Amino acid sequence: MTKLTVKDVDLKGKKVLVRVDFNVPVKDGVITNDNRITAALPTIKYILEQGGRAILFSHLGRVKEEADKEGKSLAPVAADLAAKLGQDVKFIPGVTRGAELEAAVNALEDGQVLLVENTRFEDVDGKKESKNDPELGKYWASLGDGIFVNDAFGTAHRAHCSNVGVTEFVKGDCVVGYLMQKEIDFLGNAVNNPERPFVAILGGAKVSSKISVIENLLDKVDTLIIGGGMAYTFMAAHGEEVGKSLLEEDYEEYALKMEKKAEEKGVKLLIPVDTVVADDFSNDANFKVVGRGEIPADMEGLDVGPKTAELFADAIKGAKTVVWNGPMGVFENPTL
Ligand code: 3PG
Repeated sequence: MTKLTVKDVDLKGKKVLVRVDFNVPVKDGVITNDNRITAALPTIKYILEQGGRAILFSHLGRVKEEADKEGKSLAPVAADLAAKLGQDVKFIPGVTRGAELEAAVNALEDGQVLLVENTRFEDVDGKKESKNDPELGKYWASLGDGIFVNDAFGTAHRAHCSNVGVTEFVKGDCVVGYLMQKEIDFLGNAVNNPERPFVAILGGAKVSSKISVIENLLDKVDTLIIGGGMAYTFMAAHGEEVGKSLLEEDYEEYALKMEKKAEEKGVKLLIPVDTVVADDFSNDANFKVVGRGEIPADMEGLDVGPKTAELFADAIKGAKTVVWNGPMGVFENPTL
C-alpha cells in the first residue's frame, strides 16, 4: 500500500485541506481524553512549518437532528489545539460552509490554521456528510488549493464526504499524513510479515461487512477469533437458537464455508462458548449469562460471556502478533 504522503507535496503558501479525527470524548464542554488531538499534531505542525495554511476538518459524535448539535461543537477542540500548537486556531462556531467561512479561509496566512466546525452538522439537513453528498464534497474541495491530506485513521472505515467525497473534487494531490502512514505501515507489516503465532480478533455487527477481511485473514493467521454481533450468524448457521440477536441469515452458509476453510488450513477459529443475553438494548435491561445454543428466543446476545473471555484471552496470551477489528460486545453499556 504505497501512498503519497504529506512529505511528497509542495505546501508553501497553499491552502491545504486536512481531514483529522478529533472525535474525542467531551463532557460538559471539557475534553476528557485528548489523545487523538495529540496524534494529529505531527502532520499539522509539518504543514505549518512548511508554510502551508491548514484547513482542518473533523467530525465529533453523531448528529442526526438539530438537537443533537448540543455539546458537539468542535469549539473545545479548537481551544485545546491552539494551546498545544502555541498559536491561534481560527474557528467559527456552528459554521461548516458559507461566506463567513470562505472569508476566514481566504484570510489565512502561511503557517496559520483554521478548524472547520463539526462536519456532521451537515447531517442535520439530509445527512450530507455521512451520505457523501457530492455537492458538499465539491464545496469543501473548493476551499483549498488542490491538496488534501488524510490523517484521520480512526475514520478510515467510513466513506463520508470529508474523507472520501472531497477527494473526487480536489484538483491536485490527495496524500496521507504521518498518523495514517504510521498505521498503514504497522498494519501492513503485521498482516504480511507477522511474528507467529498470529491471532486476529474480529467483532462488530455484521459478517457481510467483513467478508473479504475474513477470507484474507484465514490465509494468514494461526487463530481467528470471532465475537460481537457477527458471531450470532455463525451460531445460527449450526441451527442454534440466537433469539433476538443480530443475525444475517443470508450469510449463514458463508459462515459454514469459512469454518470449513479454517479447518482445511489448520486455522483455529473460535466463536463464543457463552453469551451475555438481555431482554433489552438498554442500561436497565435484565441480563444473564447462557451457554452456547441456549439464548432464549425473547432475549438478545449483547456480549461474550466469562468463559468466552477466558477462552479468547488464552488464545491471545500465546500470540506474538495480534490484530483486532471491532468490539466483542456492547462495550459502551457499562451494565452488561
Ligand atoms: C471513531 O471514533 O470510531 C471514529 O471517529 C469514527 O466515528 P463514528 O463511528 O461515529 O463514525
